[in-house]
Amino acid sequence: MKFLEAMKFAHACKIFDETKKIPSEQFDQILEAGRLTPSSFGLEHTRLLVIRSQELKNTIQPLCWNQKQIPTCSELVVFKSRVKDIIAPSQYIEESMQRRGLDERYMKRLEDFQKENFKSRKEIEDWSMKQAYLMASSMVNCAAYLGIDSCYLEGFEREKVEEALEINPQEERVALLVCFGYRLNEPKAKHRQALDEIVEFLE
Ligand SMILES: Cc1cc2nc3c(=O)[nH]c(=O)nc-3n(C[C@H](O)[C@H](O)[C@H](O)COP(=O)(O)O)c2cc1C
Repeated sequence: MKFLEAMKFAHACKIFDETKKIPSEQFDQILEAGRLTPSSFGLEHTRLLVIRSQELKNTIQPLCWNQKQIPTCSELVVFKSRVKDIIAPSQYIEESMQRRGLDERYMKRLEDFQKENFKSRKEIEDWSMKQAYLMASSMVNCAAYLGIDSCYLEGFEREKVEEALEINPQEERVALLVCFGYRLNEPKAKHRQALDEIVEFLE
């Protein structure tokens, strides 16, 4: 499939065919697309939880506006955004720097960037969560390219989902969830503004 065909194939799948599971070789490719996604300062802010347990999906569903995608999908991915680790300086950043052969100037630059741009912990959290959205987008587009459906989910109660998954909000926050699987129904027509409504060329 060509890239734009994949973008047209992709849609917000509202209910998946419960009888169909994604082959692990294909889901590994989707995870790899996520892993290869860049992040601000190369900090790799995002960690993933892949929920396959039906029992856990059933526990999560009422915390996510009871959305039907949750119990019917093949793979439910929870995007966790690091918060504590990515505030400079930290041991996590030190280790990342070592892996990448960076010296202490990098830590200083990162500290300055964070002081200048973020006035609160909430702003740090938001910055970290933006990186998760980029990763989710790579994974959704990769899935579409493989003929696999998905749905981004922002409709969830953050604190309750974190509690159910035993995530410590001092360390990580849940940014969003994405369901992957195979459509049960054909999607509705896609609606987007025309290019000339959203693009302005300055020449
Ligand atoms: C960040 C994000 C969060 C979303 N959250 C939900 C959600 O919680 N539930 C849902 O059914 N759709 C959700 N959607 C799907 C959008 O509503 C959908 O992509 C949009 O209406 C366009 O439809 P289409 O993707 O089928 O073309 C979300 C989409 C994005 C990008």
